[in-house]
Amino acid sequence: MDDSRETLGPRAFVTGFPIKHSRSPLIHGHWLKALDLPGSYGAHEVTPAEFPAFIQALKSGDSGFVGGNVTIPHKEMAFRLADQPDELSEELGASNTLWLEDGRLRATNTDGRGFTANLDERRPGWDKVRSAIILGAGGASRAVIQAVRDRGLDEIHIVNRTIERAHELADRFGPKVHAHPMSSLPEIMKGAGLFINTTSLGMDGDEAPRIDFTPLADSAVVTDIVYVPLKTPILAQAEAQGFSIVDGLGMLLHQAVPGFEKWFGYRPAVDETLRAAVIADMERH
Ligand code: ATR
Repeated sequence: MDDSRETLGPRAFVTGFPIKHSRSPLIHGHWLKALDLPGSYGAHEVTPAEFPAFIQALKSGDSGFVGGNVTIPHKEMAFRLADQPDELSEELGASNTLWLEDGRLRATNTDGRGFTANLDERRPGWDKVRSAIILGAGGASRAVIQAVRDRGLDEIHIVNRTIERAHELADRFGPKVHAHPMSSLPEIMKGAGLFINTTSLGMDGDEAPRIDFTPLADSAVVTDIVYVPLKTPILAQAEAQGFSIVDGLGMLLHQAVPGFEKWFGYRPAVDETLRAAVIADMERH
């Protein structure tokens, strides 16, 4: 490794608690090397109690960072502590990307852009459908709901085990977003063109419930924001039932693009080399 490249350029971070499983250093490190840019990107574990001081050091310039990514459990606090969060963050109440600009700490949330960029790449035209089903109403679903709504779909149906959480999100994201209990799934799936899993069902090899996807439109796309395993049990079921599927790894890769561009000045490409590097890392761990 070329040490001077790491010590000379801008420094960026990813912080969370815990942080050791983050694949962001691999992604940004890959781009720095591929583009032969000076700079570094490292993981920093920061507890919730330490987080305000970490942000203060970032704002004052003492930390030497130009910005970074924020993950669980700090996204809400990052939004609150930023000087200038953008509109996307305001609506979500959470930020995952921070950068210093004109002495102010700016913040955005790139998860939704990651989600739509992945579908744009893999299934162009995915948004030319009337309605989408979003399974899950946790923190991870919010950016997805916002992004799909902002692409102009007429109806977005959130289905969640705890109906109150689905109602909260329907209220937050406006009149095109509707809340439903799990029992309504077969009925509301009828004719829908997009099915998105945002729950942890089937993550890390857990069993997922059986879902009958056949009420969906024949051309429907089924996608999952979970990417471990790459083909989640929900995606495997949909594929076996004849539907087009898109895995969640591309969302992780694409959400990283805007931050890299802010900190290092170049817009990086999400390509097969990067995807293969992350898959190889997943196979090792
Ligand atoms: P995250 O912030 O990562 O999305 P979360 O807030 O814990 O995580 O949300 C997880 C989502 O998976 C929720 O929609 C959750 O449903 P509840 O709101 O009813 O808890 C959903 N989920 C997790 N396990 C589930 C299960 N066994 N059956 C149905 N839904 C489940």
